[in-house]
Amino acid sequence: MKRDFLHITDFTTEEIWETLELARWIKNKFYQREEYHPFKDRSLAMIFAKPSARTRVSFETGFFRLGGHALFLGPNDIGIGKRESIADIARVLSRYNDMIMARLFKHEHIIELAEYADVPIVNGLTDFNHPCQIMADILTILEHRGTLDDLKITYVGDGNNIVHSWLALAMRIPMQFTIACPEGYDPDMDMVTTAQKENLSEIEVSHDPFDAVKNADIIYTDVWASMGQKEEAEKRRRDFSDFQVNEKLISATGKQTLFMHCLPAERGIEVTDAVCDADYSIIFDEAENRMFAQNAIMVKLLKESNT
Ligand code: CP
Ligand code: NVA
Repeated sequence: MKRDFLHITDFTTEEIWETLELARWIKNKFYQREEYHPFKDRSLAMIFAKPSARTRVSFETGFFRLGGHALFLGPNDIGIGKRESIADIARVLSRYNDMIMARLFKHEHIIELAEYADVPIVNGLTDFNHPCQIMADILTILEHRGTLDDLKITYVGDGNNIVHSWLALAMRIPMQFTIACPEGYDPDMDMVTTAQKENLSEIEVSHDPFDAVKNADIIYTDVWASMGQKEEAEKRRRDFSDFQVNEKLISATGKQTLFMHCLPAERGIEVTDAVCDADYSIIFDEAENRMFAQNAIMVKLLKESNT
């Protein structure tokens, strides 16, 4: 028996709350410099098919801080799916390690990795989703607001992997989640319909950013061209020109709002410097919380996996 974390919906609502509580507890221990070493004598293999700053450093440092050892396997090391099949990599790495974190292009590849691995798999981003990011984000919102009640989040930008994980969270925690994107850049509409059918949250897709941000507690954005789409960057800059998060858009919320971005940001493109550096911007708290949210997820997976 082993548990993976590939999608936010792999956890129940209760488990999400437990994980957030655990993350806060671990964060407090870290700040108090108290010892907590549940990963003693454990190792984490980290597979990266795409670049990363936050995910690599927060997983590697986080696993080490809790007493374990994490090893980095970059695109030129194991060549997952190229030099060797995903299934064989999964089987081999399971013989040496207690857990595997992977950042891959195709979502079906992480599903395959999980199918053949004997140890828990943690999703560190695919083209489809980024569940660890959104767990860190909701932890950050909870810290800043003190509650998740009556939460309106407006995501402005591309209907990408970040949006899909927000939709998944909206299937577990009630919220008003509005996506404002240019036509032709909608998120996966099957995923939107599935999340709407859950009837827990109010989910809307809009093509009018100024209307969509009204009353929002949180304005969230991400790059317009994700990893793997950089050759489309120029066209996207034209198509997204009305969707920049700037002070004018922030003031259209009509209330005190917080600004979030998963980072890396292309400052001056999807968001201005003034917004990134404003006192209502919580982007670095959000980045910091990656480590605590992920450590909580990994503690839970290791505890519940009989591997
Ligand atoms: N937010 C995030 O996942 O950042 P990296 O791509 O730098 O890991
Ligand atoms: N949507 C972005 C997120 C980066 C953390 C990407 O996939 O490149």
